[in-house]
Amino acid sequence: MKRKQAVQSIPKEPENRTDSCEPTEEELLRSLDVVIDGYSKTEGALIPVLQSAQNLFGYLPETVLRHISTRLKLPYSQVTGVVTFYSFFSTVPRGEHVVRVCLGTACYVRGGKEVLATLRKQLGINVGETTQDRKFSLAVGRCFGACSLAPAVMVDETVHQRVRPAKVKDLLTMYREAKPGLREAS
Ligand code: FES
Repeated sequence: MKRKQAVQSIPKEPENRTDSCEPTEEELLRSLDVVIDGYSKTEGALIPVLQSAQNLFGYLPETVLRHISTRLKLPYSQVTGVVTFYSFFSTVPRGEHVVRVCLGTACYVRGGKEVLATLRKQLGINVGETTQDRKFSLAVGRCFGACSLAPAVMVDETVHQRVRPAKVKDLLTMYREAKPGLREAS
């Protein structure tokens, strides 16, 4: 089994938070418990529970992972092992937009590495990090199913094809200036 291979969209929980009405951690944990209760008789509940937790909290802090471990009666090491294995789980807060550069074979040979280098430079962060303004997080992936139009970059759930280093600035500007919820493909 190859590490960090899977990249898939995580279904979003309904977003009903506002700045003036942020749920507390306790409230979020209660919501998570409802999800966990729904999986009480289901085998293989760990991944969907982790996905729901990440959707609720925005990332997977240690307290949440320990809570899941206790509630699902699974060793903590097993929970963290799954989180480490799948690239779509994050234990650090993520930016508003997650930019994933495909480094699958087709994208790699057609310039994916250069696109990644440009993104690192323009965002001023490395893979796995988030910009100070919490606007972007940078990640890499392995094949988004757009090999014939490589190199590909996925921003949130949108795959952008034939991305050239010279186009990176425009791509970032589009998301920087976008209203929340932009899902327009280029
Ligand atoms: S290798 Fe990049 S989309 Fe397939």
